[in-house]
Amino acid sequence: MPNKKENIENLQKKLGEVLGLERAAQKAVDELISMKLLKSNSKDESREIQEEASNHEEKIQEVASIFSEDKDVQLDINKVEESAKETEEKATNIMKIYLGEKPDTSEALEFLCLAEGGEVAHYEVLQTICSNFDNKKALSTVKSILKEEQRHLTRCIDMAKSVVS
Ligand SMILES: [Fe+2]
Repeated sequence: MPNKKENIENLQKKLGEVLGLERAAQKAVDELISMKLLKSNSKDESREIQEEASNHEEKIQEVASIFSEDKDVQLDINKVEESAKETEEKATNIMKIYLGEKPDTSEALEFLCLAEGGEVAHYEVLQTICSNFDNKKALSTVKSILKEEQRHLTRCIDMAKSVVS
């Protein structure tokens, strides 16, 4: 079991990572649409997912500020933002590498699957970290985002399948 200091460090890092992933996901949708890789149905659906990502970003920022005001935790928002920036850069690089020179719609949608799968995994871990703190609001927010991320992943997989069926 991590001690209190380690718990707080884990929380800072993981909150930053999910923030960075949410920001990168929103940019990815814009970019894939501007590259004309997402059309008609998948374009509309990706826009919906993008809107939810923006909503998740706000909710996670709220969770971070709740923990920063909690005297027992005193989360450092600067550390969260540092972690977010690093993760956003990594995710953006991963997309470039994944798409390569001449990406097609299948690759674009499969990249979104990869991104959503990453989000699911990170929120699962964040949920475990949050359960080490006594903060019902934060834990229930993370749980509700995790449920939506699981739906995002399913939707992206369905979109990727629809291209070839
Ligand atoms: Fe998502």
